[in-house]
Order: sequence, then structure tokens, then C-alpha cells
Amino acid sequence: MNTKRILLLGNGGREHAIAKALKRSTQYNVEIFCFMNAKNPGIAKLCTALKICTEKNFGAENGFQTLKDFAQNIQANFAIIGPDDPIGAGAVDALQSVGIESMAPSKTCARLESSKGFTRNILEKYHIPGNPQFQVFTNTVGLKEFCQKLEGKFVVKDDGLCGGKGVHVQGDHFETIDEGIEIAKSMLEKHGSFLIEEKLEGPEFSLMFFVDGITAIAMPSIADHKRAFEGDVGPNTGGMGTISFPKILPFITEKNIEDATDITKAVMEAVEKECGENFHGIMYGGFMRTKNGTKLIEYNARFGDPEALNALPLLESDFIDICEAIIAERLSEVPVLFSKKATVCKYIVPNGYPTNPLSDQEIQIDESRIPKGVEIFFASVKEEDGKYWLCGSRAIGIVGIDEDFAKAEQKAEMAIQAISGPVFHRKDIGTAELLQKRMEMI
Ligand code: AMP
Ligand code: GLY
Repeated sequence: MNTKRILLLGNGGREHAIAKALKRSTQYNVEIFCFMNAKNPGIAKLCTALKICTEKNFGAENGFQTLKDFAQNIQANFAIIGPDDPIGAGAVDALQSVGIESMAPSKTCARLESSKGFTRNILEKYHIPGNPQFQVFTNTVGLKEFCQKLEGKFVVKDDGLCGGKGVHVQGDHFETIDEGIEIAKSMLEKHGSFLIEEKLEGPEFSLMFFVDGITAIAMPSIADHKRAFEGDVGPNTGGMGTISFPKILPFITEKNIEDATDITKAVMEAVEKECGENFHGIMYGGFMRTKNGTKLIEYNARFGDPEALNALPLLESDFIDICEAIIAERLSEVPVLFSKKATVCKYIVPNGYPTNPLSDQEIQIDESRIPKGVEIFFASVKEEDGKYWLCGSRAIGIVGIDEDFAKAEQKAEMAIQAISGPVFHRKDIGTAELLQKRMEMI
């Protein structure tokens, strides 16, 4: 069998899902070399070798020198970069400079995620539907007038990568126009620009696409649950869990999927015009079904976490072929098939997450009690002395998979019984009650 040597950067649940998907290849002998900032025990079991890099953002400040050396040493066939920060800082360009291609976008194409203004302006310039009313500000001239025009229903966004903390929604994070303006001013001081957007209302959905710059192929539609606590309350998190259905999410329509696909293809083509090169990798759109049609919330230039934990276990086609086709810009020539099953992902998180999470506490898993049809993904957990320890962020992603959605949810809950420690999860994710709430948002 042909051997493929793959450099995988990252050590979260998403990267564990990527590693598992790579290893399922039936055509290649897959060797994974992982570049991590902490030893993820799930990935460690799957990889041939790993390098722990404790430099900030995987060594971005030093031009990713350690990463480049590692990539050359292992003679990687290609690289997959999981997280947004190193992609945004140019990890792909650094690897390309030593002759290694990545299934991820260059720094210039990754502005789709790293600059919210870039994306909004592309939609406007190329007359692509999906934008809310918005304005990018580099000073406060006309700010109050624009907020008034939106009748005080607006969102303030930082124009850069903020690890999900750069979005302030009226009604959730502030109430009055003056409060919103204060937030905007502090962003201006920090980053020199911000966006004001019309506040959109309706159920949200994630749609991720494999993209080679010419072809964009959608994965199943997925819904995230960002709030920390049951009933969709509490602070925003990276995502407490995600669901998908054998067909589409019940609270969106085929038309929403078609619209989101049309928007994504048009944006992919516009990116090529703006950047002078093709986007390679994942375009992950956050969309909303509103009474005025399908709207774009944002694009990410990578797999979602947890969304990757739902989508990748369903991928029936060879992931290696897809990655190589993306890099070679022949994605239209390879099959991309997903099994038509439901998935319910719930993240186990440390007590106190996200504001004051416990760390360095033991967490136990009785693997014999994990039912069939459940996938476990390690995230912010490390293994030491044969024990698992919490590292302070989302710890373990549990994914129930079944033809039947309710059974997928039950499987996830059954598996969670096998885990003990100072942790919690959202029991309501995947329940009929919460689905009903999404339906009522229409
Ligand atoms: P984050 O993933 O933390 O960047 O937060 C993005 C979240 O902010 C989305 O999932 C939406 O819930 C919310 N959001 C962003 N833009 C808007 C908008 N224009 N209208 C309403 N909600 C928005
Ligand atoms: N699911 C949220 C994210 O990956 O950004």
C-alpha cells in the first residue's frame, strides 16, 4: 500500500476527528505526524510521531520555523492545519516556502475568517446576497446615526480574530445604543476598526464546504449550541454541542441549503479575484434562516469544532483523496459521500467553564461502558501517569450516531455515564424540547 505522511497541526477535538478520519483510509497506509501545544491522548495513539511546541500560536512570531523544520524532517506529503489562529498567521504560506502544500488556505485567503470586514465587503462588491445591513468603521464618524437607522437593534463586531469573543449582540451583551457605542469605542482603541451590523433573527445553522477554488461541496447541515448552560442561557462558548440529521436540520429548508451553497460558490470565486489565488480547504459558513431569507453570519476558514466531530465520522469517501484533490484543484473528480445518519455531539467541560474552569483535575473514562455507535474525541485533556487530566477548556466530545435522531441522543447520554470527574455537559442538546425551541424561532 502507498504510504501517506501527513502533518497535522493542532490538538483539539477537531484535530482528533481529523486524525480518525485520515486513519480510516482503506487505500493508503496513513502516517500522521502531529504538531501540538499539548499532548492530546486521542491523537497521540493514532500518530506515528508528535512534536510539542509551546511557542505562542505554534511559533507564528518566529515565522513558524519549528513547524517548517518538523515538516521537512518528516517529509510530509501534505499538511492539515486545524485551528484558525495559525491559518490566519500564515502557517500555510510558511509550509509552502519549504515545498509543503496544505489542505488549508493561505494567509491572504484566510482573511475570510480573520477579517469580518473583508467578507462583508466581498459580498457587497460582488452583489452576493446574504449580507445584513452593515458598516465598517475606522473612527466614530456617523456611528450614532447608523445605530439609530438600525433602530438600536445591532451587533458590534471586532474586525479580527478574537477566539469567538469579538461579537456583541444587542439584547444579549448590551441594551442601549450608548452601551453599544462604548463597546465599539473600546474595539477601536484595540484594533483600529470595528463593524456594526443589523441584528438578524432566526435559527442558525453551520454549513461546511470542501473547497478547492473551483468546486465547493457541502457537508451535512449542523446546528451548534454556543451558550454554556441548558435552555440556551449563560455565556457564549466555543460550542457545547452540535446536532445533524440524516437529511437536513428540521428547522431549515432545502432552499436555505441552496442559498448557502450559492453564496459560498460566489464568495469562493470572489476570493480568487480579490486574492489572486484559489482558496484551498474548508469554508465553514454560519448562516441564519430569517424572515428575509438566508443570511450569512460569518465564514470560518477551517473545520468547526464541534462541527467536525459530527461531519467527519459520517464521511464515507476517502479523506486522503479529498485532501489531495483540494490541493491539486481537482475536487470535482473525487467522490464526496456522507452516510445518512443523525449525530448528536455533546462536549464534556470542566466545572466553572467557560468563565472560571477547573484545571489539573482527574477525569475517568470507563471505556467498557461506551456503547456501540458512539465516537469519543479528546480535546482539552492530557494523559499523565496513565490518568486523564482536565486542561481547562472543552474536555471530551461525545458523539452518538444512529439512523434515528432520538437514539443518537440517547447513545451520547449513555456514553457520558461512563465519564466521571468535576465536569458537566448540556443534557438538553438533541432533545425534542430544544428542537421545538428552534422551530419556534422561525
Ligand atoms: P462567534 O462565533 O462567537 O463569533 O459569535 C457569532 C455569533 O454571534 C453567531 O453565532 C450569532 O449568534 C451572533 N451574531 C453574529 N452576527 C450577528 C448578526 N448580524 N445578527 C445576530 N446575531 C449575530
Ligand atoms: N463551532 C464554532 C467554531 O468552530 O467556531
